[in-house]
Amino acid sequence: MFKSYHKKIISSTIVASIVLLGTACNASDKSETKEKATKAEPKKVETKVAPATSNASVGPAVPDVSDSVKRTYANGKKVIDGGVTYPIVNGKTSSYAVNEKAHSIAVAYGKTATPNEIKAWDIDVMPDGTGLPEGSGSVEEGDELYEEKCVSCHGDFGAGSGSYPKLTAGNAYEMQKTLVNQRLNPDDDGPKRVFGSYWPNASTLWWYIKTGMPHPAPMSLTDDEVYAISAYILSINEIEIDGEAVEDDYVLNREKFLKIKMPNRDGFIPNIDGPKGPDNVRAFYDDVTNYGNGTRCMKDCFDGEPKVQKIITPISDFSPPLSNEKSLPKAPKSAKAEHPGKKVYEKKCSLCHGNDAMGAPVVGNKEAWEKVLKQGKDTVYKNAINGKNGMPPKGGTSLSDDEIKQVVDYMIESSK
Ligand code: HEC
Ligand code: HEC
Repeated sequence: MFKSYHKKIISSTIVASIVLLGTACNASDKSETKEKATKAEPKKVETKVAPATSNASVGPAVPDVSDSVKRTYANGKKVIDGGVTYPIVNGKTSSYAVNEKAHSIAVAYGKTATPNEIKAWDIDVMPDGTGLPEGSGSVEEGDELYEEKCVSCHGDFGAGSGSYPKLTAGNAYEMQKTLVNQRLNPDDDGPKRVFGSYWPNASTLWWYIKTGMPHPAPMSLTDDEVYAISAYILSINEIEIDGEAVEDDYVLNREKFLKIKMPNRDGFIPNIDGPKGPDNVRAFYDDVTNYGNGTRCMKDCFDGEPKVQKIITPISDFSPPLSNEKSLPKAPKSAKAEHPGKKVYEKKCSLCHGNDAMGAPVVGNKEAWEKVLKQGKDTVYKNAINGKNGMPPKGGTSLSDDEIKQVVDYMIESSK
């Protein structure tokens, strides 16, 4: 899960030369980080990301955000969870803006990756050890490397800094409150979303550091260095391997790495890992007791307290804000209903009354109709019905008197 997610980030980083920092901050799955990132982003983007491209499927402009933030979103659209979604190639959207002009404008950052580079980068490290190379490194070595290459962003002992992610929240076993626990006891905090207490597989850590870190120079670490840094990160998360604490002199290698059992490995419900994943999801939702009280009902569903929990921290800062308005919007003035006499007029009368060739008072000619109306409306009706000089009775139609009056009304109203 983490894997493909991060992989996408990284490959788009190479291919599209997205501003590294911008992507990074935006990329985090943690809402905390995301919020900060949104605030911190504009100044980076101004210099590096091209303005909105001429993508045809661009959504409406992002409402009520400051200009600088709007520029950050470029052609993106704010979505319900507060994130941003961007239209990208082939109709697919993502939370990352692809800078399509990256190579046509002079960005002093990166270069287009060659097919071979992409191939070298496209490695997998799977929970079962597939793709995990031989190698080794100690916690001590990892500590030194961390000080040199990681501390500037991830803080002392992985405590995080600014919007850069924490690499530990303390003892992973104590911090670990799984999604399962949280459901059974909704007052529990969710699991701390850091590597130690949240990630189900250590292989993701190895792969992620190897292919993505240090952020400014990904793929620069040797396999041994990645083992060393991984050992250090395991130690600051106080994760034990095969019952053994990962102390300073601990040397991590492939064999030991594969024995790591992450505290939250079974904490995801439904279990979406592996080929059985989709079946597990289906089974989970088939059993209503997993998320309700087991009975379908529409009213008087609860004895006492409802068992379905309300969302504890609902999203409230929608933009535009939510509205409670229930009535239909007012019809715009231009949409005035058509006069009932209009159709008949156009069909039966306009050929004489549309111009003055026949000597008929022209509809739309105010003076002509004022003169006609001086006789009084009843006379006008009567003349229309019975005819007068060149005006045939009822204009040559077989309409009822009332219908004719309606048409006359239309002609009068249209001539004011
Ligand atoms: C220039 C800043 C920077 C440096 C230096 C850096 N990182 Fe990162 N690191 C980031 C950012 C930003 C993210 C979040 C990226 C994302 O979510 O897409 C991150 C994410 C991570 C994560 C995943 C954390 C999580 O919970 O999602 C790990 C693990 C990590 N870095 C390890 C390292 C290691 C190890 C080093 C040193 C070799 C290092 N980083 C150096 C910026 C940096
Ligand atoms: C063949 C041509 C012709 C057609 C068709 C025609 N009109 Fe007329 N209409 C005239 C002429 C000519 C006058 C002017 C008569 C006059 O004042 O000498 C006139 C006058 C009128 C007047 C003014 C009467 C008055 O008191 O001065 C009304 C009202 C009127 N028409 C309504 C209609 C309506 C309604 C229709 C369609 C159902 C219609 N006309 C179709 C030729 C026509």
